[in-house]
Parts: sequence; structure tokens; C-alpha cells
Amino acid sequence: MAIRFEDIKPKVGSRVVWDSRDDIFTPEAAQALRKQLEDRTVLVFPRLNLTDEEQLKITDLMGGKVKLTGQFNVQDTDENVYQVTLDKTINPQPEYVLGTYFYHMDGMPVDFPPPFATLLSARKVAPRGGQTDFANTCAAYAALSEEEKREIDGLRVIHSVKASMVPIQEAIPPEQYQKVIGIKGERDRPLVMVHAGGRKSMLLGTTADRIEGMPIPEGRALLTRLTEWSAQPEFSLRHDWQEGDFVIWENTSALHRAIPYDPDSGRMMHRTSLAGTESVAA
Ligand code: OGA
Ligand code: MN
Repeated sequence: MAIRFEDIKPKVGSRVVWDSRDDIFTPEAAQALRKQLEDRTVLVFPRLNLTDEEQLKITDLMGGKVKLTGQFNVQDTDENVYQVTLDKTINPQPEYVLGTYFYHMDGMPVDFPPPFATLLSARKVAPRGGQTDFANTCAAYAALSEEEKREIDGLRVIHSVKASMVPIQEAIPPEQYQKVIGIKGERDRPLVMVHAGGRKSMLLGTTADRIEGMPIPEGRALLTRLTEWSAQPEFSLRHDWQEGDFVIWENTSALHRAIPYDPDSGRMMHRTSLAGTESVAA
């Protein structure tokens, strides 16, 4: 039997349904998942309870993993699977995880194409907070007026890790400040990404610092308006995690953020990233 999908909301999200767990770990399923991600942006596998080996297998079947954390990371266990946690005994430098409280896309400032998808397994959930919000910038773009589309097609945005730390900068311990905020490196990306097949999404989020060739206040105001537009209930989805849930999102169409949770709650998510294949880096 094959896997099947059920809509979660009209414009975003599918729940994945299977008869046998084995149905998920096949090349055919991996292809179906990639296609569904393009159509629906967020895929939820309720209570799948993946092991790391199984998560890596799905990642490989879907196209191969990419490591995002080389630039700044901190965990020595993240060779294969990155542990998303605020637990200081595992993650001595939690700033980048605190940055997930604000709408962002993964890997926008890196030196290679941003990941096509992010895969996240809930190992331990927080008793309060810790849901993840997703906003579908593909559906949000499609709903803009033709005039608004014309105004933003062709614009380029400068992304940096530094910009994504601005919302939490006063919370960074002084001894870490230079290391965290001093991160160099900027990357320009198209504001409107044209995907294979012609669909378009907007690349936005806290890493988006300014628009090339536009006065900084005007550019930032536009980025904020487009983010607010995308976050409307029509285009967005909140996932309330149960232990064992597995979620995949099409990272170049999904703004996402965690709702704040207690750092001592033990919340633990295991993350892998799927390599991007489309050349938006140029
Ligand atoms: C991430 C991320 C969201 C969450 O790991 O990149 O944004 O809910 N996580 O933990
Ligand atoms: Mn993220």
C-alpha cells in the first residue's frame, strides 16, 4: 500500500496516513512526499516515533542531507542529526535556538542553496508552549494583486545570521556577545523564488536584513508587510506537538517559528535538513 494525504487547512498542510510503517521508507513514498511538499508546504506524520536512523533514511531517500550548523555550531553530536533544545547541558550556546521564536527560514545566509526542506521529530514536548507556527509564502504570494507581484518580482534581499539575532540581542550573555553578533557573512537571495515548474514563493524571515537598492527603512517595511501578509490565518498553521510527531516543511516556502517554552522543560526536537537543488544562490 502507498501513503495517503489529508488536508489540514485549505491552503496549507497535509496529514500523512499510512497502513504499514514500512510504506514510508520507500523511494516511491519519498517522491510522493517531495511532490506533496511542493503543493502543501507542511506535512505532519502523527506519532510516527522515528529513530535517528529512520529519520536519516527518509532524508536520504528524499534527496540527501545538508549540514547547516558548521558556521557557528556548538554541539559535537550534530554530525548527522541536530538536537534543537535549550537544555544547556546539551546546547551550551542556546542563542540560535532562541532565534527560532521569530519567523524565519532555515539556512538563508549559508554559502550554498538554502535547504529544500527541514525534517523535525518531537522527542520530548514542553508542557506549555513549544508549538510550531508555519506560514506558507507560496500561497501568500499567489494571493497578492498583480500590481503587488510586479512590484516585488526581481527584488533581491540581503540575509545574515546577525540580522536574525537582533530580536534577542540584549539577552545574549556579554561573554558570548561578540561570538554571536559578530558573525560575518551575508548572502543575497531573490525575494521571489521561482521554483521548477513555475510556482513562486517569497524568501523572508528574521535573517532578511534589507532589500538591495532600496533605502533601508523602506526595504524593511516591505519585508515586514510581506511577513505579516503571509502569517494571516488563511496561509498559516500551528502544529501542537505530541511526542513522536514528525513534521517536514518545504523550507523555501515556509516561514516558521517556535512558540516560546521553558528552557528547563526538556523540549527536544531532532532535526535534519534536505539539500536545496534550485540555484537561488546565484
Ligand atoms: C529549527 C526550528 C522550530 C521548533 O530547528 O530550525 O525552527 O519548533 N525549530 O523547534
Ligand atoms: Mn528553523
